Amino acid sequence: MSILASKSQGKGGPDPIFAISDMAKVRAEEVGAQNIVNATIGSFLDSEGRLVTLKSVEEAMRSLDFSDACDYAPIAGLPRFIDAAIDAAFLDCRPEAYLAGMATPGGTGGLHNAFYNYLEEGATCITTDRYWGNYASLLDEIGRKLDTFNTFDGDKFDIKACLAKVHEYAAKQKNMMLLLNTPAHNPTGFSVTDDEWQILIKELSAVANNGVNNVILVIDVAYIDFAGPHGRDFFKLFTHLPDNFLVIVTFSMSKGYTLYGYRLGCMIGISSSQETIEEFKKANAYSSRATWSNCNRAAMLTMIEFADHPEKQAIFKAEQEDLRLSLVKRAETFITEANAVDLPICPYQAGFFITVPTKDVQEAQEIAAIMREDDIFVVPLGAGLRVAICAIPEEKITGMAAKFKEAFKRLEK
Ligand SMILES: Cc1ncc(COP(=O)(O)O)c(C=O)c1O
Repeated sequence: MSILASKSQGKGGPDPIFAISDMAKVRAEEVGAQNIVNATIGSFLDSEGRLVTLKSVEEAMRSLDFSDACDYAPIAGLPRFIDAAIDAAFLDCRPEAYLAGMATPGGTGGLHNAFYNYLEEGATCITTDRYWGNYASLLDEIGRKLDTFNTFDGDKFDIKACLAKVHEYAAKQKNMMLLLNTPAHNPTGFSVTDDEWQILIKELSAVANNGVNNVILVIDVAYIDFAGPHGRDFFKLFTHLPDNFLVIVTFSMSKGYTLYGYRLGCMIGISSSQETIEEFKKANAYSSRATWSNCNRAAMLTMIEFADHPEKQAIFKAEQEDLRLSLVKRAETFITEANAVDLPICPYQAGFFITVPTKDVQEAQEIAAIMREDDIFVVPLGAGLRVAICAIPEEKITGMAAKFKEAFKRLEK
């Protein structure tokens, strides 16, 4: 018997990522954490398996006045935080357009508001078929849907498949919403290139100008601080867009500031229309108030602390860069070895995860099971295996590609 409201019945249940993570934890207790490879966790961990945090962020946070940090923040966020978050998101690549920021609990909150306010009930958001699973839950929870298109054409973003889906949904619903997680996509690490962005923007502008549709482009930049130099250049392209083409950037402090649990992000609206931006502020502030109310003031003050003290900001940026470079080294180790043993991987430019593609969902499950026999824990996700290089030190990455190759060979026999 269920006493849940009818629309809530049947939802929930074990999360496939946490299920594999739990297997790794059980095994670590049996044989010792140092003797297993747990590449399931989506946080940056050091060689002892502890969460990496940035000293500059810790110091900025510890320097806050406690009662100030504990107070409520305005629903939209402290104005100086919003300015600082917009600066941090765009750096020197700010588009020439009207901009507005809204504090959100992580990038997740921004996604929720975007889905809720710009899609009719029952309408669909489109994204790549390799995607962060929570998109589907966020949409489903509020009675919206997800549809996907092929992510890659060989070693490139499948822009043709993307645009075909854009046109399919432009014919079905007024607000055509495209969601892209770039740069440094989860779970593959790919980034849309600037040339691809040019094509996308041209085509999406044509849709916006067709007299029927509005275009809502949601860009999930949760991993942007790991994208490296030029990772933000594409933002400049969102200049002089049609008035009914809204870009929503969901910026997060979880990964780049190592403040995962503090739950702070900023959804940033970019538009050529002041009216659209005013509406963005009003509607999203209302949704925030009606969903989680206000966000974490301590994390906002931390960001303000950096904005107000260039010397602290410089130390923070240097530390963040070291973190990025250590991830680059981990990725290089995996990719070099994958090339050496001829193990195909999905296109990777940057980010926390690398995906080893499989021919189908079943093969992914089988390879994951074989890898577990060697105490290597990776997450089967659709037709592929997600390797969280963020969670394992280089010494544990060494040899992993060869193990994958062996697993594929064993399966062939
Ligand atoms: C692709 C992607 N988008 C968004 C998020 C949201 O993270 P948060 O809400 O902590 O900012 C995550 C977190 O894992 C993610 O992987």
